[in-house]
Amino acid sequence: MIIRIRNNSDIPSSEITPESAYINRRKFLGASAGIGAAAFLARGAAAAPSGAPAHAAHLAARQDEEPNTFEEITSYNNFYEFGLDKKDPSKYAPSRLVTEPWTVKVDGLCNNPADYQLEDFIKPSTIEDRTYRLRCVEAWSMVVPWRGFPLADVIRRAEPTAAAKYVSFATLWDPEQMPERRWRPVIDWPYREGLRLDEALHPLSLLVTGLYGKDLPAQNGAPLRLIVPWKYGFKSIKSIVGITFTEDEPPTTWATQSPREYGFYSNVNPDVSHPRWSQATEKRIDSSKLFGYRRIDTQFLNGYADEVAHMYEGMDLQKHF
Ligand code: MTE
Repeated sequence: MIIRIRNNSDIPSSEITPESAYINRRKFLGASAGIGAAAFLARGAAAAPSGAPAHAAHLAARQDEEPNTFEEITSYNNFYEFGLDKKDPSKYAPSRLVTEPWTVKVDGLCNNPADYQLEDFIKPSTIEDRTYRLRCVEAWSMVVPWRGFPLADVIRRAEPTAAAKYVSFATLWDPEQMPERRWRPVIDWPYREGLRLDEALHPLSLLVTGLYGKDLPAQNGAPLRLIVPWKYGFKSIKSIVGITFTEDEPPTTWATQSPREYGFYSNVNPDVSHPRWSQATEKRIDSSKLFGYRRIDTQFLNGYADEVAHMYEGMDLQKHF
């Protein structure tokens, strides 16, 4: 298994890793020999292809996959609404992004459209902790212990009609709160993303409300963001206010912006280069290293091929990138 999925209610309090253990990486690593903290680790065993030798090789290659630190995850971000520099989101979003009250509009081709207040949208009993790899299209990556609930729960509640084939998502757009000037004329805000309905229903697709057991920081897309771990990070849209079921493939921000460089699918694929750089390797952010990262090989579908590759059988992934 690649991830340990558990409901909060399933974790005895004795097994829950104290927050202090997360904040301090050393302590966390020490603790991870025990059962509790290990539950949060994205150990490569999960993604290992079947067959003993390959499995063993894979495990060896992946032994270093402990989660990134809270500091790394919350201070090196992409959230262009708040600026282009990796430091801008943590500098500006916490004081500017207003997350209460928060409404999520569910509409389009479904039987139960609704405007939800966030507290009605999230059912605390379904919240789980899951550690996933996050691979940005810019070729940096992290391992993040998210907290959230399956996107499939929301979709089932909405009851999409037979005509619905896709789901689209929109981020809040409020120029008062998001005063990044340089991108304003370039991007057709709000930031939008989309998935095919079967991708959205896949159990790995997660709506995230927190990380490291805490509420989601503003710079990571509070109070609600998507995480689709086998796709490039830009599919994992932040600060979601709209979820719409559509019949046609919905327009998405980066594919609209630069269709030659970014596609709708955006599945992590080391064999399909970005027109301006290779995707064969990635920089795993690691602030203990001199340059702030380690160079590692990128895995097909970000290491989740066993779980998701079947959805793309027969598709030309060079064409549908
Ligand atoms: N969502 C919105 N609304 N705006 C953005 O600029 N950037 C995307 C994605 N979601 C982005 C977004 C990109 S390119 C990446 S790699 C991830 O968020 C980064 O998530 P993180 O900052 O939590 O690591």
